[in-house]
Amino acid sequence: MAHRYHSLLVLLLAVAVAGAGAATPRQLFLVTQPAVTLTNHHGQLLTGNHSVNLLWYGRFTTAQRATVADFVASLSSPAPAHSPSVSSWWATTARYHPGAARLALGRQVLDPSLSLGRRLSEADLASLAARLAPHRGSVAVVITAPDVLVDGFCLSHCGLHASASAAAPPKGSPRAATRGRGRFAYVWVGDSSEQCAGECAWPFHQPTYGPQAPPLVAPNADVGMDGVVINLATLLAGAVTNPYGGGYFQGPAEAPLEAVTACTGVFGAGAYPGYPGQLSVDAATGASFNAVGVAGRRFLLPAMWDPKTSQCFTLV
Ligand SMILES: *[C@@H]1O[C@H](CO)[C@@H](O)[C@H](O)[C@H]1NC(C)=O
Repeated sequence: MAHRYHSLLVLLLAVAVAGAGAATPRQLFLVTQPAVTLTNHHGQLLTGNHSVNLLWYGRFTTAQRATVADFVASLSSPAPAHSPSVSSWWATTARYHPGAARLALGRQVLDPSLSLGRRLSEADLASLAARLAPHRGSVAVVITAPDVLVDGFCLSHCGLHASASAAAPPKGSPRAATRGRGRFAYVWVGDSSEQCAGECAWPFHQPTYGPQAPPLVAPNADVGMDGVVINLATLLAGAVTNPYGGGYFQGPAEAPLEAVTACTGVFGAGAYPGYPGQLSVDAATGASFNAVGVAGRRFLLPAMWDPKTSQCFTLV
């Protein structure tokens, strides 16, 4: 059975509640982020070249798929002239291990007619990931449309990353003896725009709980997809730095703080609960962003914990 690592939503709520109880958000900012140290449990991390294959479950427009595909293609692409870039954000994952994980956009599979139905269990997510012919050199990503119901979605999490066994090696073979050899990493993220944008697409939607602030304009003009990018960024960082449950995390293994969840709610310098921090704003559209990717596309990416400094690294 897959190990599961999710808790984006739980952590967002924890941060929001902490903010509500504090005297003023400003004080929280002045005392800075609580010190978090992720512990290296010395298990395997993902390193080297990996393709990221996408399975689109439900109906998505071409523009929606392009937003996410461009984000994935930006992760390990040569840094564009624009700064800060998506690849400079992803470069923080290389500070966890000398052999960086280079991610490239792989193949995409469409399932617009919901072959497993509109309601999915976590086992269904693993089955969908398995359709991407996953192997150790790939990360399988399942993205569900706004009308798809996934167990726990919106109630306890916005997505998850996990690992599962690829096709079982023959009994007694050398492969069978090597722990982790046949496992692949997979990620699920849901488009939350119809079900819980206040929980899973903050700060592009008014938060459901905690200190209220006006929502930001989404850089790709799509609250659901720009929210998917934030959660996918979070989960890919977790997947490469803690793919099989023995990498970098703090807290209980079943609900760990990982590379980005250790910095939940932080997008730019000066963030405090309810305020994502300083960001770049497009003068024409009013959209907030902090990273530029391939073809000049803009994204808002969450802060990532930097193991060299023990700080949450923000691009802006
Ligand atoms: C990884 O991918 C890069 C870019 O495509 C390529 O230059 C490099 O040779 C690859 N490395 C390995 C070990 O395959």
